[in-house]
Amino acid sequence: VTARLAAITGASSGIGQALAARYYRAGWRLALVARRARQIEEWVVARGFDRSRIAVYAADVRQVDSLVEVGRACIAAHGAPDVVIAGAGISIGFDTAEHDLEVMRRIYETNVLGMAATFHAFLPAMRTRGTGTLVGIGSMAGIRGLPGHGAYCSSKAAVISYCEALRGECRAHGVRVVTINPGYVATPLTAKNRYPMPFLLDPDVFAERAYRAIESGTSYCVIPWQMAVLAKLLRLLPDPLFDRLLAGRPRKHREEAPQ
Ligand SMILES: NC(=O)c1ccc[n+]([C@@H]2O[C@H](COP(=O)([O-])OP(=O)(O)OC[C@H]3O[C@@H](n4cnc5c(N)ncnc54)[C@H](OP(=O)(O)O)[C@@H]3O)[C@@H](O)[C@H]2O)c1
Repeated sequence: VTARLAAITGASSGIGQALAARYYRAGWRLALVARRARQIEEWVVARGFDRSRIAVYAADVRQVDSLVEVGRACIAAHGAPDVVIAGAGISIGFDTAEHDLEVMRRIYETNVLGMAATFHAFLPAMRTRGTGTLVGIGSMAGIRGLPGHGAYCSSKAAVISYCEALRGECRAHGVRVVTINPGYVATPLTAKNRYPMPFLLDPDVFAERAYRAIESGTSYCVIPWQMAVLAKLLRLLPDPLFDRLLAGRPRKHREEAPQ
């Protein structure tokens, strides 16, 4: 029997990379995607992974055409994936009064449109086969809007809502959709945060829990469970209380000069 195939974006760093390692350990074949393909290649070699089980693709998720091309090449060479994980994402502080609108555009293009483009590249083949799982990496930040973090929070709220809609669309075609909302995970993305990060997880610990959640057939989960409890409470919290709770909280760093 051929090993199952997982296609993962954001595989050059952090959560995507840890998930790639976890799926590899479980015997899967991998299609790994990021702009820094070389970084992935070097990592694969450094880990001593069997190269014949891993295909590496360079693509920018903001370029729909490049993702569609990756999907086409991957499906032609290795077949339709059993699991597609849209892990590519960026997080940058945002201030509406400053010149940050380009930052918002970049965040939406990467986190939201990039995810839809990733699924778009693989879904038709999965639907034809009638099996498969699409995994969207959302965030706890998508549960409520955090001051100074409006672009990222709203992008992740969009991810959560988009995945929910997609779940309903894919159901009749045998394709599952899973939303995974990480709390804090120690990766380059969070390394610059100046505020305390409760329940901070090691990426490998996160990947282990996410792998089990995806395999268990769940459609939505927050990892770690402490954050799941917090997410439920935050949803119930009335606005005046929420606003007071957040007042004075250190903000996500903005970029010095917009790119
Ligand atoms: N770390 C956390 O605490 C946390 C919490 C909640 C949610 N998340 C989410 O988890 C996901 C992964 O985050 P992380 O912490 O692992 O961050 P990370 O270490 O910075 O990794 C981000 C990954 O996304 C890829 N990426 C970014 N922009 C891309 C683009 N335009 N095209 C293709 N790939 C792109 C990067 O690859 P290249 O730069 O090589 O392209 C990299 O592999 C993100 O969606 C993030 O929002 C993280």
